[in-house]
Amino acid sequence: MILQRDNLPNINQISDETSHVLGDYNATDFRQFFVYYQQCQAGAKEFGTKLENLDSEFEMLDNHNPIHHMETRMKSPRSLVRKLAKKGYDFSFDAIKDHIFDIAGIRVITNYLDDIETVEHALTKQSDVRLLKRKDYISHPKPSGYRSLHLVVSVPVFRAEGPVSTPVEIQLRTVGMDMWASLEHKLRYKTDVDKQKVEKYGNQLKDYSTELNQIESSMQNIFNQLQEK
Ligand code: GTP
Ligand code: MG
Repeated sequence: MILQRDNLPNINQISDETSHVLGDYNATDFRQFFVYYQQCQAGAKEFGTKLENLDSEFEMLDNHNPIHHMETRMKSPRSLVRKLAKKGYDFSFDAIKDHIFDIAGIRVITNYLDDIETVEHALTKQSDVRLLKRKDYISHPKPSGYRSLHLVVSVPVFRAEGPVSTPVEIQLRTVGMDMWASLEHKLRYKTDVDKQKVEKYGNQLKDYSTELNQIESSMQNIFNQLQEK
């Protein structure tokens, strides 16, 4: 399919309507925010294409594709406002641009541990990609036991007036880390779980994170042995 429209609202209409409610000053921030939001979505599409092209190449050339599957999401305006508040910033365009880098996010789930590095390198060595931030929660897991590699990378998005560098957050993790994070996320974000349970299961999950890491390392070894000719 060549043209699949995103059904975006018209920015002039929104600006007019929001300025009635918010006043001209805030309406400008709103307008800039919507323009930037669409830019980030375009950035996610650029990286989506890069990753899909890599996936096709791995499928065609190698007898092992490091990519298991991928997911993409745009941060909802509600969770953006929450994140700004948590970090101590007001809702302003400058705060968003300077401090929030995960408006567009892509998650790459890999088969094995070493695959994470393979995908990271294949992506970050591309000449139009810049690595802005790298947080390695695999070498240094979070206190919860959370493990993943978080990258903020930028790519030029070509607007009608020229290119603009656009950040996208890419989370890379194995199938095992992904399974762990989904369950742990339920425990952390479901508000109706009582405190004792959160602590008990939280501790259990932390132990499982270590165990899963050991299992995944051992499976990586078996995989390497099987790959040897
Ligand atoms: P900033 O975005 O700059 O604050 O840092 P960051 O992206 O390195 O880490 P952050 O703590 O913001 O985590 C971003 C995302 O990673 C979250 O939205 C979750 O999807 C995931 N994540 C981080 N920590 C945990 C955790 O302890 N458990 C689970 N399940 N997911 C987590
Ligand atoms: Mg983040």
